[in-house]
Parts: sequence; structure tokens; C-alpha cells
Amino acid sequence: MRREEIIPSAARLTNSLRDLGYDFSNAIADLIDNSVTAGAGKVGITFHFDGPESWIRIVDDGSGMTGASVSEAMRLGTAQDYGEGDLGKFGLGLKTASLSQCRRISVASRTDPNRRTIEVRRLDLDHVTATDRWEILHLTGAERPEPLIAPLRESTGTVVMWEDLDRILSFRDPWGGWAQKYLMALAEQLDRHLGMVFGRFISGLARRRKKLHITINGTPVEAWDPFVRAEPRVESLPVGEFPVAGGLVRFSPFVVPAQREFSSDAAWRRASGPQNWNRQQGFYVYRADRMIQSGGWSRMRTQDEHTKLARASLEFWPDLDDAFEINISKMRVRLPEELREQLNRPVADLLKRAQERYRGGDKKKSPRPRPPSEPPPPSPSPNGGATPPSAGGERRGAEPVGKPSTTGTHGGGGSIGNGVVSPPASRSGGPGPRVSAPPAVATALQRAAERAGQSDALGLILDELRREDPEVAREFGL
Ligand SMILES: Nc1ncnc2c1ncn2[C@@H]1O[C@H](COP(=O)(O)OP(=O)(O)OP(=O)(O)O)[C@@H](O)[C@H]1O
Ligand SMILES: [Mg+2]
Repeated sequence: MRREEIIPSAARLTNSLRDLGYDFSNAIADLIDNSVTAGAGKVGITFHFDGPESWIRIVDDGSGMTGASVSEAMRLGTAQDYGEGDLGKFGLGLKTASLSQCRRISVASRTDPNRRTIEVRRLDLDHVTATDRWEILHLTGAERPEPLIAPLRESTGTVVMWEDLDRILSFRDPWGGWAQKYLMALAEQLDRHLGMVFGRFISGLARRRKKLHITINGTPVEAWDPFVRAEPRVESLPVGEFPVAGGLVRFSPFVVPAQREFSSDAAWRRASGPQNWNRQQGFYVYRADRMIQSGGWSRMRTQDEHTKLARASLEFWPDLDDAFEINISKMRVRLPEELREQLNRPVADLLKRAQERYRGGDKKKSPRPRPPSEPPPPSPSPNGGATPPSAGGERRGAEPVGKPSTTGTHGGGGSIGNGVVSPPASRSGGPGPRVSAPPAVATALQRAAERAGQSDALGLILDELRREDPEVAREFGL
């Protein structure tokens, strides 16, 4: 039998790969996945408006890449071995995410703090289209744009720069006010998106990674906790761990406080989330602590006003990627059928409790809400889960204005049953009556923590106190 090798058309395929379904914020998040995997502690995103010469740049202080590695990174289908908990999977994200937004991608990288060598490669869609060849360009000396290499003069790491932003700035007047405003609006939207998607990393609560500091035009992105675990009145229901396709998925349900029960109006508004209360109810699916989906009941329920206080995390690790049908843009997952079956009962319980709370039934008949806490990482298969929407929160612009007011914390739910939802032993008691207004101590603590920018820390401290010293916590209305 004769063989014939059919090499894909570089021009056609590269252009087709622009439309895999990324939106702007998810495209940037895909690049930050790479930075996280490279061990970065800092990621800085810069929006630079300059009409048709505008650019967007992502700088990290991760391990960086050698020249050969940068070239390999530019290949569609990078050859790569992944470690447990690595966020990469397909060897495509850098290219597909970038091409979804721009025509020219430049990557600069430096690995050695003692040597000033900076390797630069460029993937230029115009070049590929014109030549129909799988070629990248090596840039040396003055060919390398200053904003691309400047961040690497002082430190190691990687810079990805997007130019020719045809999918972002397709305005008739590229210098016009609309174009500039649009770029600023994108920066604001990105702020909210990253605060949510990388919330656990920013808070230092991701289980296998160090704390991540993200800035947009120099302003820090704050973590957003969908489960508002720093709020004294949040209620965590029993956590379940469900076997799926040889791994485990952890389900941590929460009933978040009703508006009247929040410690402050600002905290309530911030807790609303990018898509607001109704649409932020539902599952938050986390893959290796990175949020993939935020809100929605994945066709198990509808988003009803009466259940809007119900939110739950679903956490899995990449060993379950196939079961969750993770896609290239990592923007959505499908819940495996065997998981849906196991979730039916606990989801029904969660919605029932959320409805009671919504109707104000909390005062009379509810047991004291269980305090939230972060359960120990499950073994053998870890979990995580959440879904990212793409907007919400406060303002930030290309030249950032202000910053989000409150930071949420992350903690888990109760203890972990084995395949079945079970109440955490340490939390089963304490049915004492609950005061309906947030107690003064709790509110004062909350506000002080906000002012000090330490809401995350307060959430953790309260978790600990409720778990270890429930009597004291109760006495002070915590
Ligand atoms: N910021 C970075 N720092 C260090 N290495 C990087 C960086 N960005 C990309 N790389 C390298 O380039 C490779 C290709 O990245 P790319 O995002 O295209 O694919 P991936 O991360 O392996 O998989 P996925 O398609 O799931 O994102 C990565 O596997 C990594 O080795
Ligand atoms: Mg990647």
C-alpha cells in the first residue's frame, strides 16, 4: 500500500483556528494558565492604546523558556509532558487563545537570572497567510519591540504580546474615542473575570500552587469568592465526594446570606457576581482549583429567583478531563451522567434550604447554619470546580480607575463522606437560635478586615474559630 503524507494548509488551518469560541477574558485566562504552570508568582497585564498600533501584553515571572522551548511553544500541538495539577492539556492554548484576538503574537522569554539572553519568537498571521508555511520568525536586536523585552531586563520569565488586535479593535476609526473606551471596558471586564477564575490562586488557597498576584495596568486584581465565606451568615451544607470514572468529584454546597443578612451593602453587591444574583446561582466548577464554569445548574435545574442563594462548588482534577469533556478554550464542561445522578439528592436539599432562607424561614425553623471551612484535600483524586462568567464587579480601565471593594475568601465545606453526602461530625450540633440581624461583633470585624484588605484572612480565622471553638463563635454571633 502506498502512503501519501497530506500536510495541512498552514494558511487555511491557522485562520480557522481563530474561531474556537474564546472570548477576550477567557483568552487571557488561557495565557495565565501557562504562567501558573510555569510557577509564576506575578502576572502583569498591560493594555496600551495607540490606535492601530495598540497592544496588550502579559508578563510573568515564571520559569521562562529556552530558545528551543519558545519555538516548541509556538507549534500547534506543542510536545509536552504534564505534571499532576498542570493546567495545560492540548498544546494549543497559547496560539489559539492569542489568534482569537489578534494577528501577531510575539513571545519573549528568559530563563537564567545570571545571563541576559532573551529569546524572541513571533507568529504572524499575515506571514503564514502569505507564505502558506508553518513558519515563525526569530527576532533579534532592534527587531525586538522594546515593550516586549523591557520586562525581562530585570527578571526571568515570559512575555506574550498581542499586536494587530483586529478582533478587538475593529473600529472604523482606530484612533477614535470608541476604540479607546472599548479597550478600557475590556480591562474592567477582565478584572472581574480573573478575580473569579483565579480567585483561589490569588487568595493563596490553591492546593498545589503558590499565591498568585495579578495586576491589570498596575492595579491588583482581587479574588472573588462566590461562596462569600468571609460573611458570618453564610451557611455551608454537607460536602459530598462522588466517584466518577475512577476519580473523585467534590461537591461543596453553600447557602449564601440573603441581602438583609449581609454585613454591609457593599459586600452584598460584590457577592452578586459578574452576572448578578439570579444567574450566579448554581455550580462553580473548578479544575485543579482554576474555575471553568461559574453558575448555572448544567441543565439539572432552572435558575429561579427563589433559589438564587444556592451556590455550590464542583471540583475535579485533570485526571477527569475526559469525563468532563473539557474543551480547548477551557470555557465549559459537561457534567458526567454518573455525577448528575449522584448530585440529584444533594442539589434538591440545597435548593430546599436556599428557598427557606430566601423566604426568611431562617429565623424560625432552620438549624444554626454550619460554618464554612476548607476540608482537607481529598485523596486519592483531588477536586475543585467552578465556572467563569465574563463580567461584573467594579471598575477598571486601560488606565485603571479604582478597584474592587471587597475580597472574598475561599474555604471548603464540611467534612467529606465517601460517595455519599454526609454531615461533618464537628458541625452537627449547635441548633441554637440564630439572631436575624448580623451581630455587631461580626459586622465590625468584617468591616475592619475590609478596611485592612484582609477579608481573606478573616474568613480563614472565622472558619477555624467556628470549627475549633464553636461555643465562643456562637456567643459572638460568628
Ligand atoms: N508563560 C509561559 N512560561 C513558560 N512556558 C510557557 C509559557 N507559555 C507557554 N509555555 C510553554 O509552551 C507550551 C505550549 O503552551 P500552550 O498554551 O500552547 O499549550 P499547553 O499549555 O501545553 O496546553 P493547552 O492547549 O491546554 O493550553 C506549554 O506547554 C509550555 O511548555
Ligand atoms: Mg496553555
